[in-house]
Amino acid sequence: MGTHNSRLGGFHKLNPTERLLAIKAFDGLCDEDLRQLRGGTSVLTIERADKMIENVVGTFNLPLGVATNFQINGRDVLIPMVVEEPSIVAGVSFAAKLTRAGGGFQASSTEPLMIGQVQLVGIHNLHSARHDILTCKNEILALANQQSGLLALGGGAQDVEVRIFQSSPMGSMLVVHLLIDCRDAMGANAINTMAEKVAPLLERISGGRAYLRILSNLSDRRLARGRAIVPPSALARDGLSGEEVVEGILWANAFAVVDPYRAATHNKGILNGIDPVLLATGNDWRAVEAGAHAYAARNGQYTSLSTWERDANGNLVGTLEMPLAVGIVGGATKVHPAAQAALKLLNVKHANELAEICVCAGLASNLAALRALATEGIQRGHMGLHARQIALAVGAQDVEVDQIAGRMIVERAIKLMRAVELLNEMRAIPA
Ligand code: MEV
Repeated sequence: MGTHNSRLGGFHKLNPTERLLAIKAFDGLCDEDLRQLRGGTSVLTIERADKMIENVVGTFNLPLGVATNFQINGRDVLIPMVVEEPSIVAGVSFAAKLTRAGGGFQASSTEPLMIGQVQLVGIHNLHSARHDILTCKNEILALANQQSGLLALGGGAQDVEVRIFQSSPMGSMLVVHLLIDCRDAMGANAINTMAEKVAPLLERISGGRAYLRILSNLSDRRLARGRAIVPPSALARDGLSGEEVVEGILWANAFAVVDPYRAATHNKGILNGIDPVLLATGNDWRAVEAGAHAYAARNGQYTSLSTWERDANGNLVGTLEMPLAVGIVGGATKVHPAAQAALKLLNVKHANELAEICVCAGLASNLAALRALATEGIQRGHMGLHARQIALAVGAQDVEVDQIAGRMIVERAIKLMRAVELLNEMRAIPA
């Protein structure tokens, strides 16, 4: 057993191998887990990739970083993040550090209820058909649950709802919702199987014809919630008092609440913290993205997913509630060896714990962005990593990367052309 303190001081200054060893000390991962996290083609082999999707010609690597400092419901967590964008891992780690003074993150989640939809058309008496379907609820649920592995795990189809659409571009329709408890699975396969299975029965009961039979990605019955409290003293910077920074963040929040143009970017900042965890754990990030944005528009106007307030003691309080349909069994989660190692690092036993970690990473990412935006702006923090990326793009290797990036920052000229010049200069053979 390791130290279980996610405040790994100086972690960012280590090299990747040293960081892996620090992670091993945190939670006793074995050498094989570390090998999986280190990645490379030997981890996701071409043979395995060929079984995952179609027309495979290779595999594609992305950086895997580890966010530090997270304390969630009193438990220290290291969060694996797969992402190509600089500053996200540093931003969420920094924001998580700010929340520790206020007790870290508190998180909770609903039951893992997903929705399977069956569209029924050609029904003349919509209300009467709805009545008949609801009367046959037990028969529908029994059929849905026949041969479903979810039932044995304590989940399965639990309820039926029927929605009436009097008019659509093609006329009226009924939409039947199966509410399915997916336990530790994301559940897409089980839900779609159940929707297809009950469709003929629904046709018989309603006298209509079933067209679409598919899950809904607006999984608003499967929510995760996170909250963090940050004392203003933790936020002071660059000659601004903590109270002034809180005021700036509250204005940023107000902007995202009222303006969809801003809300889209604000929510993108939240998903910057979530998508990388979904990728690292082999989850379907498009499903979560779709659910998040639909949820943000649930009241008719697209708005911010998070809220930022000031409590009676002047503390900044952030909350985030959103659909988080994630699994820890099945799909790529099971097949990708690095995803397995990432889940082991997170030490989660159930899918809802992963959802709770994701929502906290999203809130942390949002806090990091708003703090920067409300003070010095986003660019200063980005500059170092951006410069390194430019240096890498022109072919700089090892120490050349830092040297070229450093020169470009000093010269305030972070450009491909300048990077090429500096690289040529550096590699010039002395006369
Ligand atoms: C950049 O990837 C994300 C931000 O634009 C988010 C935001 O504006 O809140 C910085």
